[in-house]
Amino acid sequence: MTHILPTTRHELGLLHRARPAMAGLLLAGIAAQGSPLGGSPVRKVPGIGWVTADPVVARTVLRDHRSFTILGEGGVGNLWAQILGDWVLDLFDGAGHHDLRTRTRELFTEAVSRDLVSAAWDDRIAVAGEVLRSGGTLDVARLSRILVGRMVICLLGIPRPAGHGGSWPDDEGAARIFETGERLASVALGTAGSTILTPAQVATAQGIVAELNAGIPDGWRDAPPDTLLGRCRELGLGLTETSGLASLLMVAGTETAASAMGRITALLIDTGEQHRMLAAIRAGAAPGAAAPIPVRDGDDGRAAGLLNPGEADPVENVVREGLRVTSPASVIGRGVAADVEVGGAQLRAGERIMLLVWSANATAGPFRADRQYVRESRQLWFGAGRHLCLGAALARAEIGTLLRMLWSEDRPLRVVRRRAARGVLIPAWSELLVTRA
Ligand code: HEM
Repeated sequence: MTHILPTTRHELGLLHRARPAMAGLLLAGIAAQGSPLGGSPVRKVPGIGWVTADPVVARTVLRDHRSFTILGEGGVGNLWAQILGDWVLDLFDGAGHHDLRTRTRELFTEAVSRDLVSAAWDDRIAVAGEVLRSGGTLDVARLSRILVGRMVICLLGIPRPAGHGGSWPDDEGAARIFETGERLASVALGTAGSTILTPAQVATAQGIVAELNAGIPDGWRDAPPDTLLGRCRELGLGLTETSGLASLLMVAGTETAASAMGRITALLIDTGEQHRMLAAIRAGAAPGAAAPIPVRDGDDGRAAGLLNPGEADPVENVVREGLRVTSPASVIGRGVAADVEVGGAQLRAGERIMLLVWSANATAGPFRADRQYVRESRQLWFGAGRHLCLGAALARAEIGTLLRMLWSEDRPLRVVRRRAARGVLIPAWSELLVTRA
């Protein structure tokens, strides 16, 4: 009865191993979506609060900035204020946030993102490609962590550790930076029921932030304008804002990107869709494929990126479809700021709501390399409204670059061995060994 599963057995196993309770909630979300009994798409779950798996309701919540807040109990802004200080509150919402997003609009455009990936990855990607070409085995999970770690080192200008010889960043250094980001994110692990941190959690998180941000003052002062820190300075961001933004990038963009890279690789192999992708690449751009159309998803009318119905580039299409099916940020939380009715439910100020993004996106069907853009979910895996992922173009460039390397020989791959990470916030493969089939 595999056809009734929303995704592959391997993906379901991976979600379960990450957090069994969360996996149960995500699957229940899909079941509720398809329930013949109907009822409100917004339900109250004891110990969690309001929950929805409806993509349209989820987007309504994310775009309703008057009734819902990222700052209150239940939102990540609440976590960050406890770690970084109350100044974060202005940076996360309201006028300060609007100003920050306006200034940072050009930080991760499609073109800048491609250049960033190329600068941080090209030599390491070439080495990995050579391993596959020579018939060797590649651990795509570890490689993803190393690549993302390298990106963080480049973006934040993390200096070579004292006494470190040889080239920088090396694999060990990059993997260590990734793990540091993971430790920071894991502070949020216990917050499904509440976003109030204990003093010990706050102290741990502050120590990690200090470690990661050690290179920022120098970088912000001296880095050339073609680096992220240099660009922040040129855009008029102060040192405090730049440091806060850096912490955000670190937490928002490391585990999510690495999770997507490993999981989309496995999906392509497990579903056999790699053959469809390779055939499409061989055939060139699909005839009649629609040109990319810019979409506006932010409430200030800014272009939020390109959403391509029937993406002309087969790999780009796989990136979008893979993000839909994996949705690494499985849930998004918000606090209720004012009494409001959504989806027929009455929500009261002070309550919280969890948007089951994974379930909302998965409802459209299983992974298909050539699936067209799904209108209901749009790009909900990157959120919506004014907090729509700032690094979306960078994430897509990262995933696309990895996939192009893996399948550059026009040959299918097979999984030799795999292991899912246990007890993590963002479900991921901790090991994914692949080789030519
Ligand atoms: C596949 C990878 C990624 C996924 C699935 C993802 C997903 C998301 C989602 C769902 C949000 C909205 C959270 C909310 O509304 O509460 C978000 C926000 C954000 N993301 Fe990403 N993200 C990814 C990669 C990245 C990368 C690579 C970066 C930067 C280097 C990044 C930077 C950010 C930032 C700064 C925000 C906060 C934006 C704001 O509050 O205005 N993300 N991301």
